[in-house]
Amino acid sequence: VQKTFVMVKPDGVQRGLVGEIVSRFERKGLKLVAAQLMQVPQALAEEHYAEHKERPFFKDLVSFITSSPVFAFVLEGDNAISVARTLMGSTNPAESAPGTIRGDFGLTIGMNIIHGSDSPESAAREINLWFKNETVSYDKSVDVWLA
Ligand code: GTP
Ligand code: MG
Repeated sequence: VQKTFVMVKPDGVQRGLVGEIVSRFERKGLKLVAAQLMQVPQALAEEHYAEHKERPFFKDLVSFITSSPVFAFVLEGDNAISVARTLMGSTNPAESAPGTIRGDFGLTIGMNIIHGSDSPESAAREINLWFKNETVSYDKSVDVWLA
């Protein structure tokens, strides 16, 4: 099984989409193993998006992510990283397929509602960065019907 880091961005929290989004992942069969609503410190935002430091939109991205609380969580399941990305849809909501989170709820790339780790390496880095690797391990009776 894999773990992935996911975050409902400030636009998703402000628009009341946290429950809808978490519900989609739960119904898919991914298991919540950590979660926190939090105001993101500047340093954490910069560290999280360090790979985009030289991009022209970096300042806007960091100020957006720190502008209002996010809902950060960790999901666990078979192929959790790519499955979560598939449910999220492509980066630009103007082009994301309907049925995906960005495709159903987003309009512009600057406010695309959700983040999800894009590889095993980034998932490991981000779960450590956001949750100090503190996730909960537990069994659910439906686990046997999912794998
Ligand atoms: P994340 O899950 O948020 O990392 O999105 P992603 O992996 O689908 O895209 P990527 O890592 O390439 O970009 C990170 C984030 O930067 C995106 O989710 C957008 O919020 C933002 N971003 C990317 N390109 C642009 C852009 O051209 N303009 C603006 N304003 N933001 C952008
Ligand atoms: Mg990314």
